[in-house]
Amino acid sequence: MRFFIDTAKVEDIKKAYDMGIICGVTTNPSLIAKEGRVFEEVIAEIASIVDGPISGEVKATTEDAEGMIAEGREIAKIHKNMVVKIPMTAEGLKACKQLASEGIKTNMTLIFTANQALLAARAGATYVSPFLGRLDDISVRGVDCISEIAAIFKAAKVDTQIIAASVRNPIHVTDCALAGADIATVPFSVLDTMTKHPLTDAGIAKFKKDYMAVFGE
Ligand code: E4P
Repeated sequence: MRFFIDTAKVEDIKKAYDMGIICGVTTNPSLIAKEGRVFEEVIAEIASIVDGPISGEVKATTEDAEGMIAEGREIAKIHKNMVVKIPMTAEGLKACKQLASEGIKTNMTLIFTANQALLAARAGATYVSPFLGRLDDISVRGVDCISEIAAIFKAAKVDTQIIAASVRNPIHVTDCALAGADIATVPFSVLDTMTKHPLTDAGIAKFKKDYMAVFGE
């Protein structure tokens, strides 16, 4: 399983990319709004940092296929690595089909069932984004959705890749990897937590103490 970072915060994207752990970025309207910056500017800056797929979502207020297609074409023009993120609705599927026919990559988002994922794949989505954490929030095991999608895509020989989204903690990351997600898109705080273990810190402190006892500074 590969990692994307799930944020529009440029400093965090740079830190994760410099560590060599991410190969793409996902954003959504809430994450863009949180930064309080113009969409095209922040996306162009992200594209200058990360050489990999960058998901930019159509406006949250655009609900018709024609509007999503027009915006999707503009998003695709920002950079060669752009992926157009489209909400999983009937209109979104129409937009996905059209953009895919033009060679534009798409990420169907807000996926909560395996059936939605299969429909998105059939409409030509490059990626589907099942939301693990938001399912867990309503007492539905999000990881089961991801394993079902992975099993169905394998059986049906579907090329669409699964991006596990709404990842909230390190256990979610392990669960997605075991469930067969191709990618997990993870907030910086979770990636940072994943680097740490108390025994790693204790080991470093002991090596330092033992070394210094013999060799000094
Ligand atoms: C990414 O594609 C999603 O928009 C994001 O992971 C949603 O995460 P949340 O449920 O924590 O807001």
